[in-house]
Amino acid sequence: SENQYEFIQVSEPRPGVGQVTLNRPKALNALSTPLITELNTALLSFQQSPSIRSILLTGSERAFAAGADIKEMAPLTFSKAYLDSFIESWSNLTSTIKKPIIAAVSGHALGGGCELAMMADIIYCTKTANFGQPEIKLGIIPGAGGSQRLTRAVGKSKAMELILTGKSFSGEEAERWGVAARAFGSYEELMEQTLKTAETIAGYSKVAVQAAKEVVNKSQEVGLRDGVEYERRVFHALFGSQDQKIGMKAFAEKGKAQWVDE
Ligand code: HXC
Repeated sequence: SENQYEFIQVSEPRPGVGQVTLNRPKALNALSTPLITELNTALLSFQQSPSIRSILLTGSERAFAAGADIKEMAPLTFSKAYLDSFIESWSNLTSTIKKPIIAAVSGHALGGGCELAMMADIIYCTKTANFGQPEIKLGIIPGAGGSQRLTRAVGKSKAMELILTGKSFSGEEAERWGVAARAFGSYEELMEQTLKTAETIAGYSKVAVQAAKEVVNKSQEVGLRDGVEYERRVFHALFGSQDQKIGMKAFAEKGKAQWVDE
């Protein structure tokens, strides 16, 4: 059932790695509501699949995603947006998916595309990737967390500049400013390195990986004292896992840990 979707493709390119490829090439992967619905369905099925341990989210070489679908938004009214909770379902990605998501960004990642990338846990990109929040040019503002996540990533002054001018920034800048973890010289290298990292993560204990994602995300929500305390509680809890025993025994015996995810 690899091609049950119209606007995305799903695959398992490496053991334990689930990949979602946005696939609406004629519209540069513009994120229409039907596309987001499919994305949510695919991510939820990866979340529920016992064999999937990390998730790779990507688009094409030309576009990760050129934004929310402007043609869909053009006739929208306040009442309809409000009553339908327009864009709210995008948050499923951050609230429902506990497995790590790595975004591989090449080409355009604009507006909602930039926001979708920033919802991922790690961004890898090409140096020439084209990030930006150009909503101001359309008479709107970022609506899927861009004003919050970009500001946390680059600080207030730079975020204000980017959001108020709508100017885009390169993958090279994204890496320098901390929006992206790494920027690569070619599309091929981007995809290979993203797969490698996804595979590395997929090789660790599911329990530890999920806990690590949870505590890092907590840092974005709470103050330092509460965050450190939260981390310590989760850290303590991991001594109740079998994988902690397995991991430390393997270290002592100079062997390879065979995780049981318990
Ligand atoms: C709908 C889009 C689209 C979008 C591109 N297309 N972006 N359709 N929504 N966001 C369509 C074009 O209309 C065109 O369709 C086709 O994709 C190819 O695009 P071109 O413009 O011909 O390509 P190019 O000249 O290479 O320019 C690429 C581009 C440009 C710079 C990315 O397409 C662009 O500026 N797109 C809009 C970017 C943007 O403003 N994004 C933010 C949207 S607001 P046809 O049928 O003409 O071939 C947003 C709100 C977020 O995201 C808030 C909530 C999530």
